[in-house]
Amino acid sequence: MTSYATPPISPFLLTLDASNATLEPQGSTLVRRMSDLGGLFADVPAWERAVADGDPIVYTVVSSPVPEIPRELPQSVTTIHPGTIGGEFWMTKGHQHPDPQGEIYLGLGGCGGLLLFDGERTEWLEITPGVVGYIPPGWAHRSVNIGDEPYRFLAVYPGSAGHDYGWVLKHGMGLRARKSDSQVELVPFTPTELG
Ligand SMILES: [Fe+2]
Repeated sequence: MTSYATPPISPFLLTLDASNATLEPQGSTLVRRMSDLGGLFADVPAWERAVADGDPIVYTVVSSPVPEIPRELPQSVTTIHPGTIGGEFWMTKGHQHPDPQGEIYLGLGGCGGLLLFDGERTEWLEITPGVVGYIPPGWAHRSVNIGDEPYRFLAVYPGSAGHDYGWVLKHGMGLRARKSDSQVELVPFTPTELG
């Protein structure tokens, strides 16, 4: 018999409503407003105006009840609302896994970009419904809504991977995703942006 440091949860079915971004049963919900994204957008005055002008919800993350502990495999559904700040698409904070482990994102609705950065190389993958993006161990990752409707995706990740948001503030993500003539324009971070 396998021994566990913590009692494992029992098998269960998870029902996913992709159009409403709900899970049943459902665990916690994380809400990120514009004010939670300080230091991430290039146009700081535009970000400050957005915070002052209603501080909108940029994205939410609905989790299943599976806990973030070793050996478990939690799931969550993220919804990023459409918008831009100084021409830069609304996005998640982005994070690195302190314990380098892989993750998958399955597109559920809308159109998004998956920005990956390993400290040297940057990759950009576009995610549409039914498409899976694979995040290898050691790659920081950020999701971006590049469409005009909510972008939704299912994430499945090892429970012990963790979330290091400070890594992205320190190292950036290599590229920024900007809206240009209804297209996605990828622009390099400047050295001054990284302090
Ligand atoms: Fe992750």
